[in-house]
Amino acid sequence: MTVTRVHAVAPGRVNLIGDHTDYMGGLAMPMAVQLETSVTAVLGGSMIELRSDAIPGRVDIALPIRDASAVEPAWGRYVAGVAQELGAAIGMRGEVRSSVPAGSGLSSSAALAVACALALGDTGTPLQVAERCQRAEHLATGVPCGIMDQLAITAGVEGHALVIDCATLQVTPVPVPDSAVFWVVHSGQHRQLVGSAYAERRQQCERAEHLIGRLPSASRAEIDSLTDPLLRRRARHVRTECDRVEAFAASLAAADVVRCGELMTASHESLRGDFEVSTPELDRVVESLRSTPGVHGARLTGAGFGGCVVALADPAVVLAGWRVTPSAGARVEFSN
Ligand code: GLA
Repeated sequence: MTVTRVHAVAPGRVNLIGDHTDYMGGLAMPMAVQLETSVTAVLGGSMIELRSDAIPGRVDIALPIRDASAVEPAWGRYVAGVAQELGAAIGMRGEVRSSVPAGSGLSSSAALAVACALALGDTGTPLQVAERCQRAEHLATGVPCGIMDQLAITAGVEGHALVIDCATLQVTPVPVPDSAVFWVVHSGQHRQLVGSAYAERRQQCERAEHLIGRLPSASRAEIDSLTDPLLRRRARHVRTECDRVEAFAASLAAADVVRCGELMTASHESLRGDFEVSTPELDRVVESLRSTPGVHGARLTGAGFGGCVVALADPAVVLAGWRVTPSAGARVEFSN
């Protein structure tokens, strides 16, 4: 009998700019990073049995899966969501290893989902795998996340950040110059999207969209016409954030790190003031980074509500966090 072994690796991602825009069909600019999650397993049988070097508890699930959201321990829900979405009938037994810190806004859950999808034999394009993993996350957690995390992870290009147009799902790699070094600094506050106001923010944006049409291309007058000040602020964030992504991509391509830093700082202000997803802990980290010599700008990254800040710094600067390098997307190898 041939035993098929699989080794699937999926990077985490950091979003450089463009948060809370993906689910409204706007622009985001993440990059896959060198911190990664791997699944090494033997394929076969009708069970998925995994343990993890990073998170306690053993995942033991029988196929086929009908309700991924009920699986314990909770990290197994992402595994089960993927298996449910793929309709997996053949199981695997093995181990998950991860250097992506959980609960920090670096997409540890999407990295786990993508690694599992590849290990379970998903042979789709990067976009198809990303879409299946996005649906798996919806099944597993009920959080109505956008496509940015999964697509950054499947479509990553070494040395590049990615402009993702979430309306067309087109991905445009932009080279990261040597003069731009990105750091991720943890606020100390664990982030959890399940039960957070993420879904509520998305609903508010959808209400605004219902009133004035597509937010990424809304005019100033359309945004000002929203009579509810809360919806006006949410819409203004989405619109201005998309503009900042475009400006950031052009400035990064021109190696204008000073302008990139200013745009990151403006993005944080918008996420804090208009979108209200920052926290005092995140604001404190951003403030202290901004006053650090050689740091051009800093902002919360990902959904907010805790987790990490991303900073752009000169190459000589060393910060108390992870230095993240633009990395290739997920990959898989099978052997006998
Ligand atoms: C989370 C979601 C993404 C995106 C970001 C905010 O990471 O999974 O789809 O919405 O928040 O930009």
